[in-house]
Amino acid sequence: MNKIILGVACLALTVNVSAQTMRETIGKHFLIGAAVSTRNIYSQDPKVKSAIVNNFNAIVPENCMKGEAIHPEENRYSWDDADATVKYAEDNHMTVTGHCLVWHSQAPRWMFKDSEGKTVTREVLIDRLYHHITNVVGRYKGRIKGWDVVNEAFEDDGSYRKTQYYNIIGPEYFELAFKFAHEADPNAELYYNDYSMSKPAKRDAVCRLVRDLKAKGCRIDAVGMQSHNGTDYPNLNDYEASIDSFAACGVKVMMTELDINMLPSPQHFGGADISQRFKYDKTLNPYVNGLTKSAQKLFNERYLAFFKIYAKHKDQISRVTLWGVSDADSWLNGWPVPGRTNYSLLIDRQYNVKPVVKDIIKLFK
Ligand code: G3I
Repeated sequence: MNKIILGVACLALTVNVSAQTMRETIGKHFLIGAAVSTRNIYSQDPKVKSAIVNNFNAIVPENCMKGEAIHPEENRYSWDDADATVKYAEDNHMTVTGHCLVWHSQAPRWMFKDSEGKTVTREVLIDRLYHHITNVVGRYKGRIKGWDVVNEAFEDDGSYRKTQYYNIIGPEYFELAFKFAHEADPNAELYYNDYSMSKPAKRDAVCRLVRDLKAKGCRIDAVGMQSHNGTDYPNLNDYEASIDSFAACGVKVMMTELDINMLPSPQHFGGADISQRFKYDKTLNPYVNGLTKSAQKLFNERYLAFFKIYAKHKDQISRVTLWGVSDADSWLNGWPVPGRTNYSLLIDRQYNVKPVVKDIIKLFK
């Protein structure tokens, strides 16, 4: 009789272990999420919804809350897609991150020009920034856990990116944006988000920003390391050093846009500067029919290396978000070279979880 009970117990354990998802395991330690497009949200394909809801407990809208999308004219907002994304999350008991309030790219086109096409004054831009943030954050008050308040505001050398916000308002725009967001939803978490955050000069600049914002009485809860990684960048020691440095500033660390670019770069570069574009060439698109065995091995090893770091630093990390649901959804199929077939995420083009996820989950058991 004991042998039968033992057998049944082992079977139950085996079944239980193999069926466990990232949401059920990693989700116990920190939020595990995905960026979702409006195509994902409105999809009638049950495989898409189960891929999102079974594997993740957090989502971030990939594009529909960006300035140009949600606030296309000074006196007109476009709420439908953002509303649908927030409702999708609530219906499926998922956390939502708002992305992103202040970004030089995809900023509302009208934001910086007056009716005669001239650059607006500092006072006018501050007033416009106030109304944008107040209306967007205020609409989802109590429903969005946290906001990427400022996105990609430093150069890799640690200098301020000379965006229109910086040029017209000055560096005070950081403090203004964080304070406006906090006033609009006092309970929302507030984040600074950027890419190439393993670079020491950028890391130091962001640490200075966090300390400066805190000294000015601003709420800042976390720093987002976007983590648009490659097979040979960033250096893992630098990556880990950044996690420790940001945590030492008294904030949580989030991996906000994790993916691994498996395709050759037109020129060796890291980052995610969306303005970079290169002409298609078939030598840059070697895996149209799937990764080779060696490329798949490299993919598995690289993702495991990053998740080993996340497991080691799980007390400092509050969220890891993949930048897309499946390989088919990844922005890396079109950037920096249009028309390629990339394999950058943990769910494949058939919306099945890739085999490496089983090994990733074991790190968190
Ligand atoms: O919605 C329009 C559509 O109406 C139009 O027909 C089509 C063709 O022009 O463009 C569509 O908008 C595109 C949008 O994605 C939605 O698909 C924009 O052109 C395109 O530039 C935009 O790309 C996004 C990019 O940010 C710029 O906003 C990517 O999907 C998105 O993955 C990427 O994400 C950024 C993060 O927000 C910030 N960190 C870097 C990351 C990668 O660049």
